[in-house]
This record gives sequence, structure tokens and C-alpha cells, in this order.
Amino acid sequence: MIQFKSEIAKTINKITSIDENELKNYIEIPKDTKNGDYAFPCFHLAKKLKKSPQIIAEELKQKIEINPEIIEKIEIAGGYLNFYINKEKLTKEVLKEIEQEKNYGSSKIGNGKNIVIDYSAPNIAKPFHIGHLRTTVIGAALYKIYKYLGYNVTGINHIGDYGTQFGKLIQGYKLWGEEYNIDQDPINELTKIYIRINQACKEDEKILQECRDNFKKLEEGDPYCVELWQKFKKLSLQEFQKVYDMLKCEFDSWNGESFYSDKMPEVIEKLEKTGKLVESQGAKIIDLKENGINTPCIIEKTNGSTTYATRDLAAILYRARTYDYDKALYVTSYEQNLHFKQVFEVAKLLGLDEKYIKGLEHVSYGMVLLPTGKMSTREGNMIKLEDLLQESITRAEQIIEQKNPELQNKKEVAKKVGIGAIIFNDLSTNRVKDEIFEWDQVLNFQGETGPYIQYTYARTQSVLQKAQIQQIPSIETINIHNLQDEYSQNIIKQLYEFNETLIQVTEKNEPSILARYLITVAKAFSSFYNENRIMVEDKDLQNSRIYLTYAVGKILKTGAELLGMEMPEKM
Ligand code: ARG
Repeated sequence: MIQFKSEIAKTINKITSIDENELKNYIEIPKDTKNGDYAFPCFHLAKKLKKSPQIIAEELKQKIEINPEIIEKIEIAGGYLNFYINKEKLTKEVLKEIEQEKNYGSSKIGNGKNIVIDYSAPNIAKPFHIGHLRTTVIGAALYKIYKYLGYNVTGINHIGDYGTQFGKLIQGYKLWGEEYNIDQDPINELTKIYIRINQACKEDEKILQECRDNFKKLEEGDPYCVELWQKFKKLSLQEFQKVYDMLKCEFDSWNGESFYSDKMPEVIEKLEKTGKLVESQGAKIIDLKENGINTPCIIEKTNGSTTYATRDLAAILYRARTYDYDKALYVTSYEQNLHFKQVFEVAKLLGLDEKYIKGLEHVSYGMVLLPTGKMSTREGNMIKLEDLLQESITRAEQIIEQKNPELQNKKEVAKKVGIGAIIFNDLSTNRVKDEIFEWDQVLNFQGETGPYIQYTYARTQSVLQKAQIQQIPSIETINIHNLQDEYSQNIIKQLYEFNETLIQVTEKNEPSILARYLITVAKAFSSFYNENRIMVEDKDLQNSRIYLTYAVGKILKTGAELLGMEMPEKM
């Protein structure tokens, strides 16, 4: 498809010899289309060319050679050059591509580059709670979007299946296991044990020590500890799978923390060789003050057991060798900012190729806050993800019952709407911001929500159904001149931006860019639908509008599915 921005950058490059990519980055999309479709702010060049932006604009305008098939006209406004693209050309290009491309908006930009995404990673024997919602849906969306752009993606569930907490659980189980019915309701019962043993540890230092020793024993392969731990793990994974099924979330690798138990000695050896691994109060640490990080990274605890950080270091070595990654993303909350800063810094000491260090990236995100405040496992006041999704489905069912009681497959639709609402709500907030979770907002069919996107999509499908067309009209039969009005053009410009939007998502690892985009497309369609009658006498005009409706439906569906939502055909 024609790249208008590049075309503009190319012509300016011919005149100024300034790097094309640099020029392209300066190009803006004016808020008001009266100021053109693209604007080039000349003040960026003022310093380089030693002229005022106004003069640069005038000189450029005079010298620019434009192809009228691409750019209709250029105007100067202040220090800006405003470009008005050829609407017919744009319309033709977009619609042709939508017709021809099975995966519209996809591209080969990824070029088989290897991306590893570490996401979800709940901790076994603990509830899969709302705190793991964001990592799961952000990670799953990035996974799909990178793939769509031609990257070779590996999704890893770095399950929390190791660490002192298992020493605690084993101790709790030893002490009171018989009082709890673990096989029937594993996570809830294990959580009860976990809360109780934590309390006991607070009251009695000796118990805490035994817990630590248990974990040490687990690491050393003590049969009883290993057996219990395996049991906890199996039961937990079964429970987690229910949530993954609901969210349609998949992974290529389930190598959790324990997978690295035999891979840590190598890390320690390598670190020792650098001379930077030092003893401190019986533990082995790497001091990072020189690197501007005040807290040292603990590699081995006083009793010789390893840490979360050491396992992550072993994982970096393993992933570099196994996946030869170009980017390794870690999707966790900003509570782990320090952890990843430390780990990425220490990773520089492992003797890896520079490429692997550069590729490490922490994709951090804000908290989900309930109107009642934050929650934590230790106190036990958290919301389980499965319950949250279930509640959303139930609420969606009630809304559908009110709005459209005649609808077929109500249960099926409610599931898509309920789960889609949660996913979209999460992904439409910029990831670094905390998200406040409120039901009225999440399930509002008119707001900037998942159900609104789904509803708009269903609307496009009902238009196509009402038109009773056997087949989508071929683009050859469409009269482009019928789509020159403001509302149609607004949609077409948005559809044009789809691929660019997906690229931006991967550049910033920010799925909210796609979520916001879908809102814009849905709104553009709503205005189009309100202003333009689709079923009209003039069959030529009708055909063109139907085609556009079809195109909007296609993009909404593709985009929403990339976010992990399912789209009901009727709602
Ligand atoms: N299990 C961890 C948690 O629940 C998240 C793991 C993230 N991945 C990693 N490689 N550290 O906080």
C-alpha cells in the first residue's frame, strides 16, 4: 500500500538532503482535517538550515515536486506545510487492499525476528487473582500482534513454582495438612494453610527457619518435599488452566522458576569469575551502587538457597541460547521495576553477546485498583480472576436479557461480551497507569468499552445481513466517487492507519494504542451510520456504502481479536 508519510519525506529529502527517516518522524496528523491530512512542522529544520520556519515552508513549497495522483495540494499555515492527499487514490488503495489481503494490516516487518514474551506467570498454590490479569492480557495481546507483524514469537509462562514460600507451604502441610481438603479445593485450602503458616512465622522465628530449611531441602531433592511440591503444582496448574481457557490464552513454554534449578550453578560460577560476587552477612551479593542502583542484588541467601533474581539470570542465559532472541519482554507490574533493573544490570556480567543485553525489556504496568483498595495474598482479601470473569459473564447476561431478550445463543454471547469487556477495559488504559476497576464502566455498552466495539461490529454484520447480499461486492464494481463525503473519508483514513497502529503497538509494547484505535474506528462508523443512509434507492451508492461497512467490520474484528476478544455476530 502506498505510504503517504514516506512519499512526503522522500520529496523533502530531495530538497534538503536531511535523512528521510528523521523527516518522516516529524510528520504529524492534524487534528482538524481542514489543515490537511499530514503536516510537516518546519521549525524542526530551522536550526539546521539557519532560517525561520516560515521561510523554510515557503521555499519547500516552491521546490517540492509532487505527484498530483498522490498529493492534491499543499498549503502553508504558520511554520507548517499542510499536505492534502488525493482522496480517490487513498480510497482505492485502502479498499483494494482490504479486498485482496486476507490479513489486512499484517506485514512482514517482523521478518522472522525472535521475540520472547514472558507473561502471566502466576504462583502455584496461590490464587490466580486479579493482580495477574494485566500481565496475562497485555502479554497475550502483544503475543498475537507481534505474530501478525511477522515476528517469530515465543510465549513463556514463567510459573512461580519455586522459592521460600514452598518451604512455608510444605511446613504448613506437615503441621496441619490433615485438617484441610486439598484435593477437592486445592487453591483455597492451600491459601488457608499459607495464611496460617505466615502468621505462625511472624510469631515464631523457629518456624520461619524450618520453612527456609524446607526450601533448601526441596532444592537438594529431598523426596518428601519434592513429592508434596509436585502435588501442589499439578493441582494448581489444573485450576489456572480454567482461566486460560476462558481468556483463550496460550503459551509455547511452561518452564517455570523450578526449571532453572540445575541451571543456576553456571550463573554463580560466571559471576564468581568476574570477582564482583561478594559475601555480605553470609549471603552472596552483587553490589550495584556503581551502576546507580542502591540495593544490591542477592544471588545466594545465607543458607545457600537461591533467589528469584538468580533464577531470572539463569533464564536469560537459557533464553539467549535457546531462542536467540532479538527482544525478550517481561510483562509484570511496576512493583518489580527494581528487580528487573538489578537483573538486567547483573546480566551484563554473564558474558553474553551485547545483542542479548540490549534486547531485554521490562514491560511494566500499573495496578488494578478496586474502589475498596489494593489486595494481597498474605491477608487473603483478593479477587480470583475466575470469579471476576464469571461475574462479568453473569452481568453481561443480565444486560442482554434487558436489551435484547429475543437474542439467540444468549449464553454464548454473554460469555464473549463479559470476557471481552474485562480484556478491553484492561487494555484500553495506558499500561503504566493504575487502573480503577468499576463494573458500570467496564460493561457500559455506550462507553469506550469492549461491548461498544462488539456492538458496533454486530451492527456492521446486521447491515450486511439486511442488504441480503450473497457476496461482498467486488471492489471493481464500487464507484469510489460515492465515498468522498466527510464521514466515509473519515473511516477510510482510519482504516489506512491500521498497519501503522499495530507497528506503534510493538514499538512501545503498548496494546492500548490498538484499543484506542478501535474506539476511533467504531465512532467513525457510528457517525457514518447516523449521517449516511446505507439502504438507498441508488444501488450504486448503496453498494459503495455496504462495501465500506464490510471493511469496518473486518477491521474491528481483526483488531479486537488481536487484543484477545471474541466477536459475537449478533448482540
Ligand atoms: N511469578 C511472578 C509474580 O507473580 C512473576 C514472574 C515474572 N517473570 C519473570 N521472569 N520474573 O510476581
